[in-house]
Amino acid sequence: MKSNSYERYYGITTFGESHGKAIGVVIEDVKPGIDFPYEKIQNALNKRKPGTGKFSSTRNEKDEIQVLSGVFEGKTTGMPICLIVYNEDAREQDYEHLKDLFRPSHADFSYFKKFKIYDHRGGGRASGRETISRVAASGLVENILEDIKINIYPIKIGKFETTQTDLSFQNELSWYDKTNYKDLIEYLNNIKNEGNSIGGIVEVKVANIPSGLGDPVFEKLDANLAKAILSIGAVKGIEFGNGFKLAALKGNDASDQMNKDGFITNHNGGILGGISTGNELIFRFVVKPTPSINIIQKTITKNNEEVEFKSHGRHDTCIIPRIIPVAKAMIKLVLADALSFQKLISNNKLELTDYREAIDKIDEDILIALGRRQKISELIGRFKQENKLPIENKDREEKLMNKLKQKAKLWDIDESFVANIWDIIISESKKRQ
Ligand SMILES: Cc1cc2nc3c(=O)[nH]c(=O)nc-3n(C[C@H](O)[C@H](O)[C@H](O)COP(=O)(O)O)c2cc1C
Repeated sequence: MKSNSYERYYGITTFGESHGKAIGVVIEDVKPGIDFPYEKIQNALNKRKPGTGKFSSTRNEKDEIQVLSGVFEGKTTGMPICLIVYNEDAREQDYEHLKDLFRPSHADFSYFKKFKIYDHRGGGRASGRETISRVAASGLVENILEDIKINIYPIKIGKFETTQTDLSFQNELSWYDKTNYKDLIEYLNNIKNEGNSIGGIVEVKVANIPSGLGDPVFEKLDANLAKAILSIGAVKGIEFGNGFKLAALKGNDASDQMNKDGFITNHNGGILGGISTGNELIFRFVVKPTPSINIIQKTITKNNEEVEFKSHGRHDTCIIPRIIPVAKAMIKLVLADALSFQKLISNNKLELTDYREAIDKIDEDILIALGRRQKISELIGRFKQENKLPIENKDREEKLMNKLKQKAKLWDIDESFVANIWDIIISESKKRQ
């Protein structure tokens, strides 16, 4: 399964392991002639890289982006863009002692169960370093986002909660509450000295978001944001608007009533029916405490032997400051997709290139569906052979053809066009059975 690709409007494929040679991303479908935003991408990566704050891992990486393809004389060429960052401070030897055991709360056990082999060095593919690729890719969609403003900050770290949101109070944690910041730092220092870690809750507010973003029913904006955010390591939950608090509200207290100026409240977080309302987009997600801690824990080896284990590697005391630029990147990718799809159905005047882009996407989707269909046909063929069933089933073919013709009528497609395509597909399938 192509699970390392995020494929909608902007196709990205990420690759690389924490202690392999490099981490990278291939980005397709970027328009030609755009100034390549090298500095913007590098700045975003600098915010994500380790060693930027007192509570982040001391791994010493420059995380300098290198452009392998798709950019010529500072401009995008329309060809796939490949960006990589070399791993410079990888220390394989730090991980040698845990080659045969599963680190608690890491992905080691589940990767091993699934693949029977995994790169144990620093979490391999499940490492936070993988997120470099996402941050780098998001730099290329900024021009689509126009006035959209994404604000993202923690509202809870361990036992501390913000009581105010003073955006002018800048600090390494993006903690917008002056009143308890000093106590929070002391609390985090104590946790760091214990060799322990802590999690928290991050809030996102997106302003200037147009209404109409998101598509029924499997491409809802909240569903796509949830998938994008939950795909980030250590994120364990997400809620929109009043979220889980809605459970305790009565209908009249939870509904977003309207007057002629718009919505009076925003309990739903700016999305109704999976489509943005134009109200501020609000959601929160929870980040678990960093799995690696310098404290003895119980675990097992690959041979099911019980052992005690203490991490000696470098880790983030709290992952939140490092997750913030990653979450921002994922939100940008989701919104850029939603905006691009919306452009196709809005009444705005489109250029020929916009129409071509849209039709190329549809052709690509058709090919993907045909590829999947062929694979399933092969499986059906194998099943029929194993169970000594006839390949031909005229009765079923006829019924299917009639059903498709009825649907064609419903969608205003020429019946004979559907019948012709269907004949070709069926005869191709039979060749594979
Ligand atoms: C930016 C970022 C940095 C991370 N840093 C660390 C770290 O220093 N130590 C660690 O144990 N886990 C770290 N993680 C979390 C692990 O990658 C993650 O918890 C682990 O792979 C298990 O996956 P899960 O928590 O999503 O189930 C980081 C994650 C991200 C996104």
